Amino acid sequence: MKLLNQLVSFIYPLKVKTIQSDRSGALEVTLVNGKLVIDSENANYSYGSLQRVLKKGLSYIGKQKLKQLNSILILGVAGGSVIKTLREDFKLEAKITGVEIDPDVIELANTHFQLYKTPNLELITEDAFKYIKSTNHTYDLIIIDIFNDTQMPHELFEIWFWNLISNQLNSKGICLFNTLYSTKKELERNDKLKALLTPLFSNLESVKTNQINEIILVEK
Ligand SMILES: C[S@@+](CC[C@H](N)C(=O)[O-])C[C@H]1O[C@@H](n2cnc3c(N)ncnc32)[C@H](O)[C@@H]1O
Repeated sequence: MKLLNQLVSFIYPLKVKTIQSDRSGALEVTLVNGKLVIDSENANYSYGSLQRVLKKGLSYIGKQKLKQLNSILILGVAGGSVIKTLREDFKLEAKITGVEIDPDVIELANTHFQLYKTPNLELITEDAFKYIKSTNHTYDLIIIDIFNDTQMPHELFEIWFWNLISNQLNSKGICLFNTLYSTKKELERNDKLKALLTPLFSNLESVKTNQINEIILVEK
């Protein structure tokens, strides 16, 4: 990345690449404040503010607990910013499995963020809902970060999905769910979900990380 571009990106964002993905529509890689981010048409998809939101959620779990994890599942990988956070900020060496539906996003992740170089990472290009129905692996931490632009699929708020998540968590396993709460409808939807999850898990906490994201943390 040229130094001049890096400096200019502190004044205004520089578009590095735009692609038209069959699944996700327009996706842009942009240099902002010296760092690359991926944006969909109306949302920050990877790195940037999204990475800070997920890092805040992970910090809430705490370094001590994170260090003990052996297996991590990420549903919704995009450019893999949370994977970088786990490896580089929290120094976790745990096996990570990432499931991402859009092969074009994975292409961007590998080309612009060298995700393929991450040690102990398995990337699966598949629908997360299909994966969670069919896998017999279990995990210590599951991170759910599934968006289609600004929309969250309705399956994420249904009991059958959370029963499967609970089944795929090891004892004392944790699930971190990134969701939105910026409208009254989203707020009510999240409250309904939390009521649904309370009897399923031993502990539930909610972290409001900014004006729009609510992280729901549940422990088996
Ligand atoms: C906000 S981005 C994920 C950001 C990522 N967790 C990170 O750390 O950078 C949301 C991702 O969910 C993916 N997605 C949407 N529906 C999906 C599905 N059914 N299965 C798997 N991934 C899906 C999108 O293609 C997109 O890449």
